[in-house]
Amino acid sequence: MKALIAAGGHATRLRPITWTINKHLIPLANKPMIGHVIEKIVEAGITDIIINVNEGEVGSMKEVLGDGGRFGATLTFVEQRGGAKGVAHVVANAEELLRGSRFLFFLGDNIILGSIKRFVQRFEKEKLDCLLAFARVKDPKRFGVPEFDEKGNLVRFLEKPANPPSDFAVTGIYLYSDRYFDAFKTVTPSSRGEYEISDVNTWFIKNSTVGYEEITGWWKDTGTPEALLEGNALILDDTERSEFVAESTTDACVQGLVKIGKGTTISADCLIRGPVVIGDGCRIENAYIGPYSSIGSGVSVEGTEIEHSIIFEGATLRGAGRIVDSLVGKQATIMDHQLTHPRSGRRIVVGDNSSVEL
Ligand code: G1P
Repeated sequence: MKALIAAGGHATRLRPITWTINKHLIPLANKPMIGHVIEKIVEAGITDIIINVNEGEVGSMKEVLGDGGRFGATLTFVEQRGGAKGVAHVVANAEELLRGSRFLFFLGDNIILGSIKRFVQRFEKEKLDCLLAFARVKDPKRFGVPEFDEKGNLVRFLEKPANPPSDFAVTGIYLYSDRYFDAFKTVTPSSRGEYEISDVNTWFIKNSTVGYEEITGWWKDTGTPEALLEGNALILDDTERSEFVAESTTDACVQGLVKIGKGTTISADCLIRGPVVIGDGCRIENAYIGPYSSIGSGVSVEGTEIEHSIIFEGATLRGAGRIVDSLVGKQATIMDHQLTHPRSGRRIVVGDNSSVEL
């Protein structure tokens, strides 16, 4: 089997972070979001992985992910030609590479807890043409939603319905045979101008075999900083205990599951309370790093408390008080104005679309 990951889009609501980085490369628990997806796919036994990216982004994706060797996979990159035309079109765009195969289609901003192996096994064992993963949600209006008849059989899928016929969302984890391409031929763009995956899935109900599984522990990037923090927390919770290793020693007080990278120094007056991941080459002094924080490599923290936050590579926090529920971008500096001269006020250089609560 093959896998296709959708990793395009512009994620405008995550600016300024996404001015400089494709959202699928945003680190969650110190690994790019898409890295977690690749690991899940490889764990399910699929190693031939195609990644769909925006035009012009193959280089930057390759730079981070390489050829896939370190994941035990082979990665092939395809550009979304002619701009975004909807989720269903992402698969059609990779037709040359997928024709003749059964494949897993994974939206790169979806993360689920646990393994997807059992979906792949069932799909293969029952020789289904389509297998979908449903999750119960509070707000089905924002998703593709299945409709069932009185007997509980699937009738169709509705994309972002104003009146959802069930409280399930169709998650972004789909398994298809290459009948997908027969289905796609019958689909026309919706009122929002996109080829909808819900229409493809409805075709499978009417013309073929569709199975579904209900899953719990699903996270989807909803495009907001709060959602990213939620994803970071979920991944920290889903990380194997054995991955929380200390590659540097410290005399600091370390409680719970904490990963510490190589060449990182944490002074004895610090308290680190997991789950927390700290990258390589960090310098942490007189600080508290609390639960659900991811500290990227090369970060310097001094006289600051951090909780439930993502601090990107190379950032500096000095005398920054208590930082909670925050995203701090690469190489950004936050410091107490008392530490600089003259001590007259806050001096700030923030990028477009930044948000600072003083
Ligand atoms: C897409 C699909 C939708 C699905 C969702 C899952 O929506 O169109 O059917 O429920 O992904 O992530 P989008 O997030 O692109 O609006």
